[in-house]
Amino acid sequence: LPLCFSLLFSTVNPCCYIPCQHWGVCVRYAENKYECDCTHTGYYGENCTIPEFWTRVHHFFKPSPNVVHYILTHFRLLWDIINSTFLRDILMRLVLTVRSNLIPSPPTFNSKYSYLSWEAYYNVSYYTRLLPPVPKDCPTPLGVKGQDGLPDPELLVEKLLKRRTFRPDPQGSNLMFAFFAQHFTHQFFKTYNRMGVGFTKALAHGVDAGHIYGDNLERQLQLRLHKDGKLKYQLIDGDMYPPTVIDAPVKMSYPPGIPPEHQLAIGQEVFGLLPGLGMYATLWLREHNRVCDILKAAHPTWDDEQLFQTTRLIIIGETIRIVIEEYVQHLSGYMLQLKFDPTLLFKSSFQYGNRIALEFSQLYHWHPLMPDSFFISGDELTYPQFLFNTSVLTHYGIEKLVDAFSRQPAGQVGGGHNMNAVVTRVAVGAIKESRQLRIQPFNEYRKRFNLRPYTSFRDFSDDEEIATQLEELYGDIDALEFYPGLMLEKTRPGAIFGESMVEMGAPFSLKGLLGNPICSPDYWKPSTFGGKVGFDIVNSATLKKLVCLNTKTCPYVAFRVPTEAQIQNEEDSKGRTDEL
Ligand code: HEM
Ligand SMILES: *[C@@H]1O[C@H](CO)[C@@H](O)[C@H](O)[C@H]1NC(C)=O
Ligand SMILES: *[C@@H]1O[C@H](CO)[C@@H](O)[C@H](O)[C@H]1NC(C)=O
Ligand SMILES: *[C@@H]1O[C@H](CO)[C@@H](O)[C@H](O)[C@H]1NC(C)=O
Ligand SMILES: *[C@@H]1O[C@H](CO)[C@@H](O)[C@H](O)[C@H]1NC(C)=O
Repeated sequence: LPLCFSLLFSTVNPCCYIPCQHWGVCVRYAENKYECDCTHTGYYGENCTIPEFWTRVHHFFKPSPNVVHYILTHFRLLWDIINSTFLRDILMRLVLTVRSNLIPSPPTFNSKYSYLSWEAYYNVSYYTRLLPPVPKDCPTPLGVKGQDGLPDPELLVEKLLKRRTFRPDPQGSNLMFAFFAQHFTHQFFKTYNRMGVGFTKALAHGVDAGHIYGDNLERQLQLRLHKDGKLKYQLIDGDMYPPTVIDAPVKMSYPPGIPPEHQLAIGQEVFGLLPGLGMYATLWLREHNRVCDILKAAHPTWDDEQLFQTTRLIIIGETIRIVIEEYVQHLSGYMLQLKFDPTLLFKSSFQYGNRIALEFSQLYHWHPLMPDSFFISGDELTYPQFLFNTSVLTHYGIEKLVDAFSRQPAGQVGGGHNMNAVVTRVAVGAIKESRQLRIQPFNEYRKRFNLRPYTSFRDFSDDEEIATQLEELYGDIDALEFYPGLMLEKTRPGAIFGESMVEMGAPFSLKGLLGNPICSPDYWKPSTFGGKVGFDIVNSATLKKLVCLNTKTCPYVAFRVPTEAQIQNEEDSKGRTDEL
């Protein structure tokens, strides 16, 4: 009876209304009294809704994200000129600062602390959070909007996310891109459910190449050769591959029954899952050992430790360059030629450092990229033949895998109905996790990233079926959840996903890349990378070099499928060699 009584008559926590706008902080005072702290937001008033004078001016001149995106992805002639002038640097600096400014640094909240605390700052086992969790004592799971219960996650995924027929990414992304995405991000997305939800095993919170070297010193020492800075390896038909776990005894996650002599020892323990990940692991292993040789030649006096440590910094630098100049370039579709140049930020108030956010991990669940089967060198491999199959990597070899993955289209991530049944349970898991962790509604994140909240499901999606079903399932657009929102939002014309994925993903991504210590003024200099020879490697790294400096023949390698013209060209030159 007392419980009933309190439920009937207790007042609702006023912060459940999510009343504070424009990054204002909701602080509860009495049962039903709250205050918004609007300090440094550029707004004032009870709910931080009234703009200050300069905010108004700023807003008047600020173009909408969709307009900026349109300009950046059109007018080729204009960009051809800009690319080769000082304007390229100015715009690149603007991209970096505008995006990074959306990410608090030092970080703020986490899954346990919805207010600032030393523990949230200091304990790096937590993912950070951009927006605090929805308070626990609210009338509905998302505050006050929507219904008592949320839609069944299995139903949601089945009806809206599961693939009907494969829809390729209109931007032309291929499997080389998809596996790069997965390989690269799994150095900093390592959810550690054994510790609890909202925890991570990747304590460096960024691009530390822990997927190559392991996320702790003990593992790193097992993976190292302890000679010339190199990593352990095995030779198969004269080609370098990761060692087996017999030679490098580290824990790898394989299903039971796979004998140790077939288990490859890799920095990231889950990379036995897919030959695409084994392929990138092999490429980076070869690259590490190749760079070690170059550094040793330049510094004959250096010991194993210094060769290893310096090579690791070079590998991190190469990674960041490839990610910005090729991976993000491809993903963005921008005609502005992106540039990895840390000096662009040396005169701004940019903070070096990064903390991976839970929202970033949720957002990066790009499983629709995965195709229905894998085409390699004339064979078609089904999922059961591909997953955890330890012989695919060495059976085909790196060249054939790179060539095959570079030619096979990946799926469009946004727009719904494009996730292979093999991975739908991962999406169910993401939705369940987001509920346990009380992630705020999609529209609250839209506002946090200066985007207009959607006013209806029809506004959100132009697919009649998706809009109707979401309306039935959620009832209120303000109760739509974060992850389904990102995956189901209408895509931009001809693009891999919608506005929100880009506008929310890019800030996390660029902050993580440029916040790396190697980008700071005391690190970004030749001596950090073993002198000019190492700095040059960082400054000229490309995906193509990563592959072709580490293979005997150079296959077709790119983040997008070849164009008709490229294929025609290849056939022509093949014809010519045949004639010879
Ligand atoms: C056939 C291919 C794939 C399979 C079988 C697969 C499977 C999985 C599984 C089982 C999990 C763990 C889920 C959980 O613990 O609840 C996971 C997590 C994840 N996957 Fe995939 N995945 C695949 C491809 C991809 C790709 C291409 C991406 C692209 C970026 C991706 C991104 C992620 C992310 C970001 C996580 C969260 C990781 C973490 O927080 O630890 N996955 N995936
Ligand atoms: C502030 O937000 C609360 C909760 O949403 C609302 O009831 C109140 O009317 C708002 N105050 C003003 C001045 O808009
Ligand atoms: C400018 O960059 C874009 C994107 O990389 C590219 O398509 C275009 O050809 C470049 N133009 C010049 C002159 O470099
Ligand atoms: C971080 O917090 C978790 C959960 O409270 C705790 O188990 C762990 O020991 C903390 N880590 C450190 C380094 O204090
Ligand atoms: C593993 O891959 C090899 C080489 O492609 C293939 O012949 C074999 O059938 C696959 N194994 C399984 C269990 O599917």
